Amino acid sequence: MSGFLADPETRKILRAAVPVTIGLASLAYLAVKLTSKPSNGFTADESIPTVRLREGESVHDIEYRENPERFLEYCEKTYGPIFNIHLMNQKLTVVGHPYIKEVFTNSNFSSTDAIDEVTGLRKYSASIVKSNCEIDNSTMHELLRDVLTPKLQLFTERIAGHLDLTLGYTFGGGFETKVVDDPLGLVFHIIAGTMAKVFMGMEIAQDPKVTESFIFCTRDFGQMLQAGVPDRSFWHMFSVNTKYGYLDGALNPLHKHVQALVTASTPVILERRRREAECKEKGIPYERPLDIMQILLDESDKYGFVDLEDMCGHIMLTVLASVHTTVDACTNMLYFFAAYPQHAETLYNEQQDVLDEQAREREKERAKLVAKAYEQGAAVPEFDGTDLDPKKDREVTTSAIRKMVYFDSYLREVFRYRSARLNLAHKARKTVVFSNGQYISKGSKVIINMRSAHYNPEQGEDVNEFKPFKYVGQTAKSPAKAATDMIFFGMGAHICPGRFLAINEMKILGTLFLQRYSRVEFKDREAGMRRLTQIVGEPLDQALILTSRHHASTEEATSVSTETSSTSTTTATTTTNSSTTISVTLESSSTMVIV
Ligand code: HEM
Ligand SMILES: *[C@@H]1O[C@H](CO)[C@@H](O)[C@H](O)[C@H]1NC(C)=O
Ligand SMILES: *[C@@H]1O[C@H](CO)[C@@H](O)[C@H](O)[C@H]1NC(C)=O
Ligand SMILES: *[C@@H]1O[C@H](CO)[C@@H](O)[C@H](O)[C@H]1NC(C)=O
Repeated sequence: MSGFLADPETRKILRAAVPVTIGLASLAYLAVKLTSKPSNGFTADESIPTVRLREGESVHDIEYRENPERFLEYCEKTYGPIFNIHLMNQKLTVVGHPYIKEVFTNSNFSSTDAIDEVTGLRKYSASIVKSNCEIDNSTMHELLRDVLTPKLQLFTERIAGHLDLTLGYTFGGGFETKVVDDPLGLVFHIIAGTMAKVFMGMEIAQDPKVTESFIFCTRDFGQMLQAGVPDRSFWHMFSVNTKYGYLDGALNPLHKHVQALVTASTPVILERRRREAECKEKGIPYERPLDIMQILLDESDKYGFVDLEDMCGHIMLTVLASVHTTVDACTNMLYFFAAYPQHAETLYNEQQDVLDEQAREREKERAKLVAKAYEQGAAVPEFDGTDLDPKKDREVTTSAIRKMVYFDSYLREVFRYRSARLNLAHKARKTVVFSNGQYISKGSKVIINMRSAHYNPEQGEDVNEFKPFKYVGQTAKSPAKAATDMIFFGMGAHICPGRFLAINEMKILGTLFLQRYSRVEFKDREAGMRRLTQIVGEPLDQALILTSRHHASTEEATSVSTETSSTSTTTATTTTNSSTTISVTLESSSTMVIV
């Protein structure tokens, strides 16, 4: 494995990465809260109430930060579903249930406009593609929705293989109990590698520079945007633009990452072309490699991609929207495992039932084939290395994942429970009138009150409780399904087109994780419980204590820890009889070698 994550400095920066993804720029908002000039005023509609400021405070930030959920609940009760607040140096109209849908489904509200206003995001993202760059072009959205999603089931084996392998050498196995101080960094590593295989394909993703770019592009993008944020005067922007050369400059870090993808993929793509031509000549079918890169190649005429660099640019933009968000969601899922161990156990039991059933079915299949061969006097069939290889009986397959309906319900409840704050600002391109007659004037911004959708009493009496299995058996309540009570992935034309992939990865990771660890606990439970509702796009580390399901032999544990400490610093290794407690530092976990 390459050592790019070994440098403690890069690890620190990685954790500070601003999660500026296409849909989720909440931290970018935070970054500007003290510095940027407030731009647009509140909507001109004076019937919309402005929340009263606390004595001695001139903005709502302090009150909101103290307890966002409580503040929002209070505002909803006092002012109704639509009210103005002054937050993050922005004048925002908070829109709550039942008017949220009217924001998501009205094309005169734009979330990218809102983010662009404070970060200048658009010109940077447009600088790395050569086609499809006009505002609102939906090519990547359509490709993910229409071409990737129908193929998703074909990716399960690859995703599971990669996650299993990387779980082994990041979180580690074999130890009886282990403290992981940095779950976020480890999940980042795991997911970036998985995404590289899904996006670029098996061969290209082998190049460590590719995974590196998948990890660091988000950070670099965030830093570049922040560089443009503090002072948006003409001369400041001029120097930022010159430095990063958003038009063609070599200093723009995104260019460097796109070039890394181009360099790694060129020989592979040429070889693919050659093989395809060869197959055509011989009249045999060409077996298309399965990855997003190939999808872009196949659709390039339809969508007018100019060249390989252009395609890699499109992939890079999708990476910015997908890696950080999925890492965030997966890490948060682990926190829920830690918060509610009894429910994690239910998921484990479901998984075991599903895999047992799969193994029984395959056993039956083999018996049938053996009986048939016997009947026909043929040789007993060999199953080694085939789909019916008994060694693979309990592998995580698409059909197994699909049967885990408790897990589906669990994730939906995690998504609901988790998003209880303000997120997803939108800017009005035209004056928009809500169905209650109130309006948002052109140029003003709204922000969605996620709490009012996800904690709406109409959902049931226990909205404040985490009840993960209440949706079991309700197909209309699948985790990917948007509704007025489920806006985790947005809604309407811009709903996240990658949500099926994200959910698949979460289910596979969760399944493999619970297979490995019988117990996941917070090192600091009180702090951990506060992480459960942290805003999407602002992931934070919370140390976890993992107990292995398969008690390691002392021998095995020792051999792994020796490997680890030879390449890095392992703090506090205490061996007491058969249990080994290892506190893995940031550096050590990243340099663990595959053993
Ligand atoms: C759990 C992980 C994820 C979360 C929470 C998430 C969340 C979101 C949200 C809320 C939006 C809508 C923003 C808006 O209303 O403007 C969005 C848009 C988007 N997401 Fe995701 N996302 C996730 C994973 C992914 C993945 C894996 C991909 C790619 C494979 C992806 C690609 C996109 C794209 C391209 C858009 C822009 C869609 C458009 O504007 O038409 N996302 N995401
Ligand atoms: C957006 O605004 C334009 C101009 O005011 C209007 O014609 C159009 O109907 C609006 N679109 C929606 C979805 O309300
Ligand atoms: C996006 O751009 C491509 C080419 O640049 C064009 O063919 C396509 O129609 C555009 N799509 C939309 C929805 O604007
Ligand atoms: C092993 O160590 C643990 C913790 O130090 C202790 O509670 C337990 O009794 C020990 N077991 C044996 C078999 O010595």
